[in-house]
Amino acid sequence: MDFKTVVAGAPGSVAAVAADALLVIVASVEAAAALDQPLADEFARALRDGDIDSKPGQVLYAHRVAGVKAARVAYAFAGAATARAFRKALAAGLGAIKAGGTKSLAVAAAGFGALDASHGEAVAMVAAEATYLYRQTKPSAPAPARLKSVAVVCAAKAEATAVSEGLRVGEALAEGTTLAREWANRPGNHCTPTHLATLALGMAKSHGLKVEVLERKDCEKLGMGSFLAVAQGSDEPLKFIVMRWMGGAKADAPVVLVGKGITFDTGGISLKPAAEMDEMKFDMGGAASVLGTMAAVARLKAKVNLVGIVAATENMPSGRAVKPGDVVTSMSGQTIEILNTDAEGRLILCDALTYAERFKPAVVVDIATLTGACVIALGHHRSGLFSSDDALAAELQAAGDTAFDPAWRMPLDDEYDEALKSHFADMGNVGSRAGGAVTAAMFLKRFTSKLRWAHLDIAGTAWKSGAAKGATGRPVPLLTHFVLGRAR
Ligand code: BES
Ligand code: MN
Ligand code: ZN
Repeated sequence: MDFKTVVAGAPGSVAAVAADALLVIVASVEAAAALDQPLADEFARALRDGDIDSKPGQVLYAHRVAGVKAARVAYAFAGAATARAFRKALAAGLGAIKAGGTKSLAVAAAGFGALDASHGEAVAMVAAEATYLYRQTKPSAPAPARLKSVAVVCAAKAEATAVSEGLRVGEALAEGTTLAREWANRPGNHCTPTHLATLALGMAKSHGLKVEVLERKDCEKLGMGSFLAVAQGSDEPLKFIVMRWMGGAKADAPVVLVGKGITFDTGGISLKPAAEMDEMKFDMGGAASVLGTMAAVARLKAKVNLVGIVAATENMPSGRAVKPGDVVTSMSGQTIEILNTDAEGRLILCDALTYAERFKPAVVVDIATLTGACVIALGHHRSGLFSSDDALAAELQAAGDTAFDPAWRMPLDDEYDEALKSHFADMGNVGSRAGGAVTAAMFLKRFTSKLRWAHLDIAGTAWKSGAAKGATGRPVPLLTHFVLGRAR
């Protein structure tokens, strides 16, 4: 899709914008009244007839409005002049327009004052989100939306410059988010560790990244006993993927992102129940978000050093699978009693975190669909954010808020560590059911004493169940904003 700005400041010029459809985001009834006459009149008539009642998210669709050049006009009522209301109304409006014959769309705002980069970013992001369709294994999927170009209507040149910059960032965010969404949606047999490695190697060429793929033998040499234990039950070869974007100065310490890449989580010998087990194809959502963020940051040629690590394997039961009670030695040298083979995410992440030390990182953030307990704690709106570092936690929280991809800080008090005590190893890999998201984070914390570290539990936010079943691409927006905020 193509994005641009058009300057239409003079009275009557919004009604005269040439496009297949015009979407007007309306902050208030008064703002609608101040639109170009034909646009204001149509809105007023609909209000009088009770066809729109100025509730946030309401959309009014009108065809061939006299005096308006675009054949289709949609009004999306925001109800407030905030960035958040703008975005919600935009999504609702695009929902109404995308199904039709519209190829070129113009988006105008009424009552938001001068638009800025955040509005441009929203347009590019929401357009990609609204038109994404999973087709990879579904030949019968409906034809893709016909929408090809989106123009944001601005009142002045300076406004258009700011919006254009937002569009540029938004397009990169959209690419990264869509990439993460697409790969998380692909079923376990179409998204194996090998597929992820091939994808990463392809991105080396397409995005100018340095990519290295470590195989089982390499991981054995490194002493990744914990990661290897999870992978040993699977016939699919594991992949440990390391990607580098070196856009910063040579001496700049990199940001390191570590993604959980369980391409299918059966639970292993501690087998999961059958109901909804298919959703465990999404258990590589953390890995997908690392790949997506690498793509977005590289596309923007951001002046920052970024390393993405993906530990990828299936978690399967088999005659060779790791068993409850088995004790393994992690790369850090600490031993782990694997009391539950379904708590496999932390087992692969701990070795990846130890591996991350070699980059002498500024900060390390791991991203994982780690615990069902996090879904119970926070539901599906906010990702769980864990860090003992207040400044880092605040930075990530702020990045999530501005990106409309929010997180919520969770505790990491030492008292929670008690749960991990083991009679037969330095630690067990599970505690009791209580506070499960926190004990999982406490487990990871034991491997981060040499790092400035944060952990995002995205079990509730990486995908949706039910009618809208599918991956969300989160938290690529949060991570990309976070990384861009650290660029020089
Ligand atoms: N991938 C799951 C976490 C998960 C569960 C995400 C449900 C989304 C929805 C993870 O590997 C897992 O199985 N965690 C266990 C941990 C338990 C055994 C301590 C869980 O949450 O039940
Ligand atoms: Mn599991
Ligand atoms: Zn898992």
